[in-house]
Order: sequence, then structure tokens, then C-alpha cells
Amino acid sequence: MKCRVRPPRSLAGEVRLPGDKSISHRALILNSVARGDARVSNLSQSDDCMSTVACLRSLGVRIEAEDDESVVVRGVGREGLKEAGDVLNAGNSGTTMRLMAGVLAAQPFLTIITGDESLRSRPMARVIEPLRLMGARIWGRERDSRAPLVIRGGHLYGVRYRLPVASAQVKSAALLAALFAEGDTTVIEPVPTRDHTERLLGAMGARISVVGEEVALSPGDLKAVSLTVPGDMSAAAFWLVAGAIHPRARIVLPNTGVNPTRTGVIDVLRSMGAAVTVRNERVINGEPVADLEVESGSLRGTEIGGDLIPRVIDEVPVIALAACLARGETVVRDAGELRVKESDRISLTVRELSRMGAQIRELADGMVISGGRKLRGCTGDSHGDHRLAMMLGVAGLVAEGESEIDNCEAADISYPAFWHDLERLSSGG
Ligand code: S3P
Repeated sequence: MKCRVRPPRSLAGEVRLPGDKSISHRALILNSVARGDARVSNLSQSDDCMSTVACLRSLGVRIEAEDDESVVVRGVGREGLKEAGDVLNAGNSGTTMRLMAGVLAAQPFLTIITGDESLRSRPMARVIEPLRLMGARIWGRERDSRAPLVIRGGHLYGVRYRLPVASAQVKSAALLAALFAEGDTTVIEPVPTRDHTERLLGAMGARISVVGEEVALSPGDLKAVSLTVPGDMSAAAFWLVAGAIHPRARIVLPNTGVNPTRTGVIDVLRSMGAAVTVRNERVINGEPVADLEVESGSLRGTEIGGDLIPRVIDEVPVIALAACLARGETVVRDAGELRVKESDRISLTVRELSRMGAQIRELADGMVISGGRKLRGCTGDSHGDHRLAMMLGVAGLVAEGESEIDNCEAADISYPAFWHDLERLSSGG
């Protein structure tokens, strides 16, 4: 599908964000292996979360749709999952595959889990390694580095594991496996990553402690917990950038999740001079939530690297767009992980923004952007990557003339209403 975007005179209104994708996956998976029923409201309706729902249903969990945005998960407890009748399909979703691998490594049956072409090309040794250390029998293609994964689940032992990469997905896989293991598990992170798994485990009665970069978990039953999923910060990021770079904008984003492991984009935009306001901060089901507002601003370049990277990892493509319109230079470093996301996001962000006239070049682990040039509309391509599709849509809001985005339906992977919301804001909300 092709989407067309023209720069509107103004950009204004309120956006009801989709439920946070990371929290939605965890609410589905953890409640599935908990005891009791849980209502999950404002569940992300993204294709990725629907992949998780489909995998869990194939394993015998009843997940009933209540209305458009909530489901009831009928937990089967730690011993209630059943062998699936077929291969599980995680689609485009790395979170589905890696988190489910953690659960499946402990089940007394065989599972094969695959995904689309993008997911089958992404690194899986990072999840196989800690699970094998725990005693799991798990294999993958290309000498145990790629999906499909074959998992012959069984008895696991707690371990002490230092993550070689900063990855919330790998951390979560190890913690999920640890729920079923004999003995305690400690996972040590090189740099803090999103901590939604730890927060939800705590809320569900798990014996978990977090001290510095060490997360320790003892095995045990979970009690089901109903929750309302906060708005997705990674979806909000597109509107924060759109509002900051469009000359006449005011966008309000109520109920956005502002977990500090996710708010790097606010810090980066503020360091560039953007007018982002955070109001009415409160905690809902253990996760901080606030109402955000952004207004047009004049931006300057910045430097992004080190411990900040995991806090902005999914937002780098759209931050690169903001940098194209900022005065001066922006440098992104320490972000080599971007090359193994749904696409090589360093190379494709540089390629697509260059085509629009940006001055941007690749580094092995990031990019350098010389800002301050006007972008011109052209035909861009998402290459099937949802975050690139949406970044190009936002670029079209400020580029001269018309922009076309090929394969724009990729946005459905995380934000099915994205193009609808873009149109609404363009016509004044
Ligand atoms: C996610 C963690 C991040 C992020 C991804 C979602 C999660 O990946 O990029 O979009 O929900 O745990 P890594 O943990 O691989 O860095």
C-alpha cells in the first residue's frame, strides 16, 4: 500500500495513543501462566501483540476479546500450557519470539516457533545462550543463531547470568524461564533497559528484587492481575517529533506511559530545545503515566550515546528526522543494535532521509546529521519496517510538496491507527 502526505498548514489536536506494545506482550504472557483471570484494557491492537495472542491460544490459553481494546486472559497456571498442534508464528515480533522462548524452554513438550523473513534474519543466539545455561534444549538455524527455533522444554536450573548485550527481550526471556526453574536466577544488565517485566512480575506476587543492575528472581506462582495498559511512548515519539518540527503545531497526548526506561526521546528533544510538557504524572498498575504536550519549537543539534541508547532505541529513526531540521550537527553513537532490528535501521534511515535531501551519513554504530536543510517530498519506502513507515509519514508533514510512502501498511505492526491519526491532526484534530 502507498500513503501520500502533504504538509498541513497546522498540526493540532489530541491523540489517543495505542496501548504500549511492550507492556501488552508482557500482560498477555504473564497472565497466561498465572492463576486466575485478568482483564487487560487498552491492549495494543498491533499485529505484533496479535502474534503473541495467537501463540498463547495455540498453547491452550483462552484469551477472550471483550471489546475493541480489552481482553480477558484465563490464566492456566505454571503447569497448564499444552503442546501446540502446529508451528507457532511470531510474525514480525522479536518480543513475541524471545519472550515466548523463555516460557517454552520450561514446558514439558516440543515447540517450533518461526516468524516472517525479517524475524528469521534477526539474532537469536542471544536468547539461546542463557536458556541453555539454565538447562534448556533449544536449537535454531544457522548454527543456533536464527529462527525457526526448536524447543524441547524441560527442567531448568536457576543461574547467574551477565547479559552480553543490553536487551530487555533477553533479560525478560531469562526471567520468564526463571519462574519455572529450580533455584534462584540473577540477571545482570550492562546498561539498564526497559523494566516492564520486572514491574509486572512484582505486581503479580513474584519474589523479585532489583538492586542496581542486578535482577534476582525466585521461582513461584503468579496471581493474575487486571490492568489498563498506558499509551505507548514509542508511538507518542512520532507526534512529539511532528509537533516539535512543524512550524504551527500543538499536540496533546493523554495517558502516555512515562516509565523512565522509555522516556529518552523526551530528554533528547528537550536537549534540542523542543517544547515538551509533562503534566499530571501518576502511577497506574505500577507504571508511571502522564499527559504530554508538544508545541512547535526551534531545534538545535545534540549528541546521543552511552546509557541513553536503550532508552531511545526504537525512537532513533524519528529523532534522526528531528535532527535533519535542527540547526547544527547531531551525532548518534553506541547504537549498533539498530542494525539488527526489524530492518537495518541505521542504513535505511540514512538512505531514506538522504533521498529527501537530508545531509546524513552512516557510522558503524550510529549516524551523523548536519541539520538545517529543507526536506523535499519524494517516494520513500518503509522496507516493511513499521518505525520507518511512520518516520517517513512524519517527514511528509514538513517536506516540500507531496511525499509518498511505499509499504506504509507496515505501521500496523505497532500502531494500526497511525495514518488515521496523522490525517486527523493535519486537519486540525
Ligand atoms: C522490546 C525491547 C527492545 C525494543 C523492542 C521491544 C521489549 O528490544 O527495541 O522494540 O518489549 O522488550 P531489545 O530488548 O532487543 O533491545
